[in-house]
Amino acid sequence: MSFDPLGRSDAELYTQILAREFNLLTVEHVMKFAPIHPVPDRYRWQEADEIVAYAERNNMQVRGHTLVWHIELPDWVYKEECSREHMIQVMQGHIQTVVGHYRGKIMAWDVVNEAIDDNGRLRETIWLQCIGPDYIEIAFRSANETDPNALLFYNDYGGEGAGHKSDAIYSLVKNLRGRGVPIHGVGLQMHVTVSDYPNPKLVIKNMQRYAELGLVVHITEMDVAIDIPVTQDKLAKQASVYQQMLEACLSVSNCQAFVLWGFTDRQSWIPAYMKGYDSGLIFDRDYKPKPAYHALLDTLASKP
Ligand code: XIL
Repeated sequence: MSFDPLGRSDAELYTQILAREFNLLTVEHVMKFAPIHPVPDRYRWQEADEIVAYAERNNMQVRGHTLVWHIELPDWVYKEECSREHMIQVMQGHIQTVVGHYRGKIMAWDVVNEAIDDNGRLRETIWLQCIGPDYIEIAFRSANETDPNALLFYNDYGGEGAGHKSDAIYSLVKNLRGRGVPIHGVGLQMHVTVSDYPNPKLVIKNMQRYAELGLVVHITEMDVAIDIPVTQDKLAKQASVYQQMLEACLSVSNCQAFVLWGFTDRQSWIPAYMKGYDSGLIFDRDYKPKPAYHALLDTLASKP
């Protein structure tokens, strides 16, 4: 049963609305380590290449996500010799091959993702355990040597506003920057809910302190999950949260991208990963714009 008066398929609707409404996309899955590098000596380019080609056809820029993370790693990485020298080879080989394959096509890479844990410490990942804390620096230098024109980001959640994790991310990035590591920006994921989101004033202050370091900020994965049942009041609150965060981004010079983690509730990670929550995006499951869509558009229309 088609939910579209024009009878378009789900894929047609998705790709048409995406190109009509957005000028930048992040590849949600197929550029991650496991999907793109499933076995040691083989890479799987097809799906990611198709998305990059789609973006180019539709004059959209692409954020590459993500080179070094502790999740969605293929099993073979865990079977490698956990020595500093060998795991640097594994990590650098992956970065150089993937960044090299897409050289000139990716505006920004999330080079390292979620390396700080919720206590504000370096997360105990295979990269930290086998290489040591300088894996982060090595990753950024490898990516920069491979594509000097791509903007290189550290990306994380929970550090959007104020707090110990935000300060830990800031300290990490300030230290990298201070040692001449080629890092250009910080990605604030902005996975929030209608009742739990950072104070926009503190988000602005956080963005401003990155500006003082000469760093760009991207809001990289925004969604505003709603605790079920979804009501009109909660949809209105959601619209307000989206609008406040866009206003915050527009109010500082170094916030240069506002990216959602999907755009339709029909394809969102929230139902599977946030039990009891739904409806976090700006189009509903039938690709109809929600109040949040109109709120964002009103904000953009009000700016010079
Ligand atoms: C999520 C995807 O949306 C899911 O489909 C996948 O199963 C797991 O990863 N932070 C990130 C994203 O940086 O890569 C994650 O995306 C969400 C949290």
